[in-house]
Amino acid sequence: MLTKNKITAISNGSNVCADIVGFDFNDYDAQDVAEVRKIWFQYGVVRFRDIDITDEQHIKFSHHFGEAVIHPKQLQEGAHPTQKEILVIANTTKDGKPSGALGNSEATWHTDTWFYERPPAGALLRAIALPPTGGDTYWVSMYQAYETLPTYLRNAVKGRQIFFQSVYDAAGGLRLNKQEPKSDDIREWPGIVHPLVRVHGDSGRQALYLGAQGVREQDSWIVGLPMDESNDLVAQLWQHTLKGEVFVQKWRLGDMVMWDNRCTMHRRDSFSPEHIRIMHRTTTAGERPV
Ligand code: OGA
Ligand code: MN
Repeated sequence: MLTKNKITAISNGSNVCADIVGFDFNDYDAQDVAEVRKIWFQYGVVRFRDIDITDEQHIKFSHHFGEAVIHPKQLQEGAHPTQKEILVIANTTKDGKPSGALGNSEATWHTDTWFYERPPAGALLRAIALPPTGGDTYWVSMYQAYETLPTYLRNAVKGRQIFFQSVYDAAGGLRLNKQEPKSDDIREWPGIVHPLVRVHGDSGRQALYLGAQGVREQDSWIVGLPMDESNDLVAQLWQHTLKGEVFVQKWRLGDMVMWDNRCTMHRRDSFSPEHIRIMHRTTTAGERPV
């Protein structure tokens, strides 16, 4: 008798990302979604390869992981012409204006919209057009970052909260509806306070939460610490985190990567402006970090 494929995680050599095989986007049920969820929680990042799905299938699949979130760039250059739940990440232009977010530039290490009160839980990124080289994406596990902290750093982060400014984006540009701050002290700027170590709402595991590595000298403050001590601790936490295992995604057409923003960070390489890279992304709602 013919039976359905079994959904399994296959190691691609990484502890941060697994490949999921056996999932059929044309025919799946709640049990299949539960399998994917389990693997996703275990790794933080999962990859589907050689899939051929429509934007509608992409959107429908992401609904199983939470309510759709509209990323601010979806109201700007990252808008999809017909699907409001899709963020277009691309270096294309239309009528002389960008028709995708991020252009061809590098994106430094970050977790998505960390400066929100409720940052998203998940993101599902699918390759539509790829450059021959460049534009690789990298992930690191923030569970691993937390769990491997040396004792003195583990003590230093205990019970701490971190303030993230929300005026400038990681590329140094002013965010939507924000003005140049008058003060030099970021503590007086608009921003958000989150726990420096957060407990994942589904796995219950603890993860370090660092927001983003901006291009500016300072974007965060560990609440209550003198600024120089805060800067030193933040720098040490970044250094420690980036010593951890990094998963490198060299995109192929047919790839979709789904990551958990609550326990991973990612970055992206730049690529030549002579080539086109188009990605479609959906985003799912997350809890307020605790
Ligand atoms: C994102 C992002 C990475 C990429 O979608 O949040 O950072 O590879 N993009 O384009
Ligand atoms: Mn991102």
